[in-house]
Amino acid sequence: MKKKLIAGNWKMNGSSASNEALLQALLAGSANWQCQVAVCVPAPYLAQVQRLVAGSGIELGAQDVSQHGAGAFTGEVSADMLKDFGTRYCLVGHSERRQYHGETDAVVVAKAQRALAAGITPVVCVGETLAEREAGRTEEVVKRQLAAAIHTIGHCISEIVVAYEPVWAIGTGKTASPEEAQQVHAVLRAQLRAATEHADRVHILYGGSMNAANAAQLLAQADIDGGLVGGASLKAIDFLSIIAAAH
Ligand code: 13P
Repeated sequence: MKKKLIAGNWKMNGSSASNEALLQALLAGSANWQCQVAVCVPAPYLAQVQRLVAGSGIELGAQDVSQHGAGAFTGEVSADMLKDFGTRYCLVGHSERRQYHGETDAVVVAKAQRALAAGITPVVCVGETLAEREAGRTEEVVKRQLAAAIHTIGHCISEIVVAYEPVWAIGTGKTASPEEAQQVHAVLRAQLRAATEHADRVHILYGGSMNAANAAQLLAQADIDGGLVGGASLKAIDFLSIIAAAH
């Protein structure tokens, strides 16, 4: 059975000093981890975090990548640049990127392809808004978002990580119940199975107010293969508790 994956998404938080303190505390608690662990950090800190986690059980992730390869795209960071710093994972299509930066399914998938081409595992984020859930459109929305990736990536779809993050549960303290989350994860798994014989290898992470108190129940669900953790990944004690719940 594959190991679970717990990934922290630091979002736009951190400083050289606080990153170092957080990582030292995580590394001090890393002796008996049963799962894979990653931290997705702001781009300016890739070099710092690469140095601090070298040779440890923590892998490096980025939060976004350009859909372009190189050139006149001021402010953008390319997949090759991320790779240059040892980046193993890259979030694409986080709901905050879709919402505040107008990223469409096509842009998200182009980013995923850039990551794959550079040897980075894209973590393709999907999830419905509250209005979409209330309108009974959850399945339709997440299936459309994943279908875009399957359509473009083809049989290499088993090389990605999927993160289901209901938008209404992000940073709100509202979590999808384990059953609600599992229901959507099962839909995503079935969709992957229709696209690849390796669907069971794909990690499908849950994200949205995952914390020390609710992680174990969420992670016990059949198709929840890990977590994408925002706020609780910024506190070593909370993130360590979530990691401990993943076995
Ligand atoms: P919170 O855990 O803070 O709700 O954030 C979830 C998230 O967006 C992770 O990518």
